[in-house]
Formats: sequence, C-alpha cells, structure tokens
Amino acid sequence: MKILVTGGTGYIGSHTTIELLNQGHEVIIVDNFYNSHPEVLLRIEELSGKVPKFYKEDVINRQALEKIFSENEIDAVIHFAGYKAVGESVEKPIEYYYNNLTSTLTLCEVMKKFNVKNLIFSSSATVYGLNNISPLKENLPLSTTNPYGTTKLMIEQILTDLYKSDNTWSIALLRYFNPIGAHESGRIGENPNGIPNNLMPYITQVAVGKREVLSVYGNDYETIDGTGVRDYIHVVDLAKGHIKALERHIEINKIEAYNLGGGKGYSVLQLVEAFEKVNGVKIPYKIVGRREGDVAVCYSDAEKALKELNWKAEKTIDDMCKDSWNWQKNNPKGYEK
Ligand code: WQD
Repeated sequence: MKILVTGGTGYIGSHTTIELLNQGHEVIIVDNFYNSHPEVLLRIEELSGKVPKFYKEDVINRQALEKIFSENEIDAVIHFAGYKAVGESVEKPIEYYYNNLTSTLTLCEVMKKFNVKNLIFSSSATVYGLNNISPLKENLPLSTTNPYGTTKLMIEQILTDLYKSDNTWSIALLRYFNPIGAHESGRIGENPNGIPNNLMPYITQVAVGKREVLSVYGNDYETIDGTGVRDYIHVVDLAKGHIKALERHIEINKIEAYNLGGGKGYSVLQLVEAFEKVNGVKIPYKIVGRREGDVAVCYSDAEKALKELNWKAEKTIDDMCKDSWNWQKNNPKGYEK
C-alpha cells in the first residue's frame, strides 16, 4: 500500500516508516522538521535501502497537502505530526490547540476531497486522566489535565464525529503508553530538543555525560518503591502496532481506540536499575519533589489490541534499555554532526 506518514521524521514516525518499508509498503513523508532533523531521512535510506518521497511542508498548509494527494495515489494516512510536550503546552495553549487541531482538521478535509478515508491517529494514554485505576481499558471515561492531552482528546472526539457523519471512513485511535528504546542499529532514536521532559532520554543523557544527575520526581507515591510506575513499550513494538492497525482498518469501516502498551508497570527506580545492569553504567540520581500533573501508576490492559489487531508488545525492558543506550552512545549529540 502507499501510505502518507505525517511527522515521519520524528521519533515514532521514523521507526514506523522503517517498519512500513521493511514490510514492502511505499511511504510518502510530510514533515516540517519542527521536532526532528533532516538527517533522519538519510538514516531511513541507510536502514531500508529505500528513499521515501519527502515533502518539507506543514500539515496545516492545505495547498501543500492537496499537492501531495494530487501527486500520489495514497491508500491510507498515519498522522503523527503535532506538538507533544506536556509542559510546553501549559505555557503555550493557543499554539498547541491551533497547531494540533487545525493540522488534523485540514488533513481530514483534504483526505475527504481525495476520497482517502483510512486514518491511523497517534493518540496517547494521557487521555485516561488522573482518576482511572490501572490496568486501563479503552472503554474507560476520558479526561485530561493539560492542553497537549486535551488536543489528543479533542481530536479523538472530532474523528468520532467524522465517522458518525460518514461511516465509509476507517479510523484507529492508537493510545501510546510510554515509548522508549530505538532501532537495533542505533542509527535512529529519540532526539528531544533541549532538556528532555521524559525519563529515558534524560537517563541516556546522564549516561553519556550530557547531564549531571537524574532528578527522580517523588518517592512518596503508593507504589513498590515510592516512585512513579509506567508502562514502557519499545518503539519498534509500537511501530509494528501501527502496521497491524493499518492492515486491520483497511478491511473494515469502523472507528476504534486501542491501547499500545506492554501491559506491565515499572517504577522509575526499577527502570534505572535495569538500565544500569544491562549497560554496565551508573546513573547518579537524587530524589526531588513530585512533578505537577503526574499520576502514581499508569499501565495498560492491552487485550483489545491483541484480540482485534493480533498485536502484542514483544520486547523486554532490558531490550528497551539496551537499545536506548546503543542509540545515545553512538549519537551523543543526537542527529547533530
Ligand atoms: C515517566 C516517569 C515521572 C522524568 C509523558 C506524557 C505522555 C507521553 C509520554 C506524549 C514519571 C518520572 C520523568 C524525569 C522522573 N507523551 N520522571 N524524572 O509523564 O508518564 O508521560 O510522556 O504522548 O503524554 O505525559 O512520561 O517519561 O515524563 O515520566 O522521575 O526527569 O518518570 O515522574 O513517573 P509520562 P515521563
């Protein structure tokens, strides 16, 4: 199939592009490099031996999108493009609502115009909010606590209403838990701008000497060791989940949400310990206060994706720690030369 991947040079977008190419699909990427780097295109070519067609455009730009759809017979779209930093969204809510919502609305309008009605949307476990008890199932009540998460929830609602208005669409809402790890080659990986918000990139930057010490945000939660528990999933497992969703939704006309998680929780200190053991490196850390908006425990019930998509996360926490470090130690400056 010919797949348009918006945000295809990003962390999850690039890993999904590699899996799509490896499975014989043709990929077209549209990306504005807001949260990624042109070097990723070269790495995709190196790893896949193929050169996806690339458009350096903003998904908000309707003319650009119409050009892409008129020049390519697109079968389906995987929509990653969007701002994704929780803290930044609190400081810049208008930019987040404008960018994430308008780009999605523009994409849907152009897809409709060209009669392309298969869409895989990059959603997030953040839509489960603070009041649900893990393991989290797809049919739970949804709520959000920051503008980033609210854009994901709003887009899920927009796509649900779109499907209700025209059930010839087929839409998968993929709710990611905590993606970490990297392609086994170490040639693509997570490359956050500035100080990492997320745990694993912070750990790898401490390990590579870019950061002094890891701050552990609270050890007074009701968890095995007091630190936050999350459902970490290897980014390659996550990428494969997109392809399973694509293959399923080409066959049916439905809108469905699916948890893409490992179904198991690990605490911050358990992840640090696993990382140190697997990689033989020490991660100095200090316990500080809780981070605003964090839940104590968040992990998935991944039964629905197994049953309906025939997808299950395969890689272990050790694989995730090994591959994260392999990427960072071979690319201490990320994609910068
Ligand atoms: C994991 C655990 C922190 C950093 C976020 C977004 C979510 C999704 C994934 C986009 C928590 C602790 C973290 C640090 C720490 N993003 N931590 N020190 O918050 O579960 O999810 O990223 O879709 O929407 O909310 O991930 O990696 O930030 O935190 O102690 O320097 O690590 O308190 O317990 P989170 P995270």
